[in-house]
Amino acid sequence: MKTDLQAARALLERGGRVAAFSGAGLSAESGLSTFRDPDPDALWSRFDPTELASVEGFEANPERVIEWYNWRRSRHAEVRPNAAHRALAAQPRLIQITQNVDSLLEQAGVEPERVFHLHGSILHDRCHNPACSYRESIDMHDPPPLRACPRCGERLRPAVVWFGEALPGSTWQRAEALCRRLDCLLVIGTSATVYPAAGLIELARAHGSRVIVVDPNPGAAGSQADIFLAGAAGVIVPALLDGFDLASEP
Ligand code: OAD
Repeated sequence: MKTDLQAARALLERGGRVAAFSGAGLSAESGLSTFRDPDPDALWSRFDPTELASVEGFEANPERVIEWYNWRRSRHAEVRPNAAHRALAAQPRLIQITQNVDSLLEQAGVEPERVFHLHGSILHDRCHNPACSYRESIDMHDPPPLRACPRCGERLRPAVVWFGEALPGSTWQRAEALCRRLDCLLVIGTSATVYPAAGLIELARAHGSRVIVVDPNPGAAGSQADIFLAGAAGVIVPALLDGFDLASEP
């Protein structure tokens, strides 16, 4: 009898278009906290997302929001890609759709244009004025306090997507278009509870894709899996991808 890992590898051996869709669990073994899992360190067990990850929260207390993101940025400055990031980077023709705002896939060697960051980037600030396009890189070791946009005077904020905000339009459209034509979606370390991003799994399935999920907890993503691989990404992903040259495009 085949193990689940062998069955997943047999699915990948069929070839066709494959893409990865990741969440916070991908970066957990690098030392970045997830948002919502049984781990008491999970960010939304310790902090209120409506205060820290919404436009209303920012407008009510911008200093507090920037302080919290800067605390996260200092943590991000310390961490390095783990074995799962490296195994994904060893598949240079694979598109990485990610909800993660870190740059660990890029640090592992994935070309930036092959990473679709659905929830933005914690490595940048942007102007809070929707009519102003000002954006700048942050020194993650020494992130600056709340400050005004040099172009229009509105406040700068992290270039991440907050609850209630739209996803970056063209990135989202490219992710949706890709998920409509996949043969296999590899889902890694996401609770699949935040929409519209989580809807990509349903979209891919509805268009005929098979779904492999890697996660220690079955959760919402596991219930949509053709093959569920229970375990840590850093262990499972290298074993799953070893020897393949997967591609998201023909
Ligand atoms: P969650 O924190 O909701 O889910 C993390 C998932 O990773 C859970 O299913 C865990 O079981 C799993 N996990 C934990 N350790 C793992 C490991 N070592 N290997 C593999 N999986 C592991 O994170 P996301 O689904 O990414 O939004 O959350 C979605 C969005 O909610 C985030 O992008 C963020 C948050 O609010 C924004 O910042 C806009």
